[in-house]
Amino acid sequence: MFELTEDQVALKEAAAEAATAILGETLKEDDENEVFRPEYLHALGEAGLCGVQSAEEHGGLGLGYTEYAIILEEIAKVSASYAVGVAVTGLPQVILATMGSQEQIDRYLPQLAMGETIGAFALSEPDSGSDAASLQATAELDGDEYVLNGTKFWITHGGYADVYIVMARTGGPGARGVSAFVVPGDAAGLTYGKKEEKMGLRSSPTVELVMQNVRIPASNLIGAEGDGFKVAMSALDSGRITIAAISVGIAQAALDTAAEYATQRKQFNKAIIDFQGVGFMLADMACQIESSRLLVRKAAALRDAGKPYSHIAAMAKCVATDASVLVATDAVQVLGGYGYTREYPVERYMRDAKVMQIVEGTNQVQRVVISRHLKGIYSGE
Ligand code: CAA
Repeated sequence: MFELTEDQVALKEAAAEAATAILGETLKEDDENEVFRPEYLHALGEAGLCGVQSAEEHGGLGLGYTEYAIILEEIAKVSASYAVGVAVTGLPQVILATMGSQEQIDRYLPQLAMGETIGAFALSEPDSGSDAASLQATAELDGDEYVLNGTKFWITHGGYADVYIVMARTGGPGARGVSAFVVPGDAAGLTYGKKEEKMGLRSSPTVELVMQNVRIPASNLIGAEGDGFKVAMSALDSGRITIAAISVGIAQAALDTAAEYATQRKQFNKAIIDFQGVGFMLADMACQIESSRLLVRKAAALRDAGKPYSHIAAMAKCVATDASVLVATDAVQVLGGYGYTREYPVERYMRDAKVMQIVEGTNQVQRVVISRHLKGIYSGE
């Protein structure tokens, strides 16, 4: 866990190289103009990076979340937007692989894992964010089809995805009334509303998804009716490891920029890293990153070993995303006036880091997960 194997080092280097080659050129202008290029995600797929964690027989590389975290960190060092793209297109993969029917797996999983198609995850709604079990979109069985209605919010890849995993209500109120469905992106009645204008992650499209009498085959139900909340929660347990890994990548990129700058920038006749005020700031940034990375690797290792990991994934998400915001903000400080301009990437790292404390469950929700775990232990429940 403390040292990467030779294969993991090779994967890390290949991911860094592919991410730079594919994403590097238009990074700055796309961030400024809020441009998402689906062909970049397809190209990352061609490089094997969209399905690292999916089984080889499902079109993936057949590796674990440890390797998934390694490649996400490398992609995030170049572009957090596309690292999130890889993570989000990974959510339908983990759902289908663990809970999908053979027919759903055969139909949708290999293309997602190879990056030929793009996936999305539709849980949140205008009035249902942290309280995910209160969602109101509905799915009614009509013969051998389900008819879906409702509005989903904050949908990464909305309008671009070929495969949406949609949570909708088939039963009464609360978590047990929720079911999960595979909805093809070209289903009639599926339209896309407002595209959010965001502070960061500007090359990742975040869109409203409107479902008006969307008819899908009944066989697109994942698991049984009423399983949907658990499908979503267990996918998010995995997803939280990916968000934490991406945050480590952003923070590492921020430290790399700041440390290099502080070594070269001279004031009062010496490099500013030699002033304790700056050198210690960089040292603290390095501590935050190393400790976050270890926690991400622990969560990934537990998941790969088939052991309980949701509370550790929640800890990794809290620690790594909070660290990323601190590190990126301090990187701006180290670069001073230059850091606040778009000439350097650190202001983008700061904007991109912030959203990681919010997505895939706010850090307050992560603390709910952790404190409930503690209550379970100490109350003997
Ligand atoms: N895995 C499997 N099952 C789980 C689970 C998990 N991690 N967590 C809870 N469940 C089960 C419970 O065991 C319970 O089952 P029973 O009914 O059989 O007892 C059921 O689900 C309900 O659980 P809770 O009572 O704990 O549910 P709750 O309503 O209190 O909610 C919560 C708990 C942790 C706050 C949860 O609602 C949550 O995680 N909210 C945040 C939602 C979220 O992360 N949204 C992000 C959306 S995606 C995104 O950000 C962007 C993107 O592009 C991907």
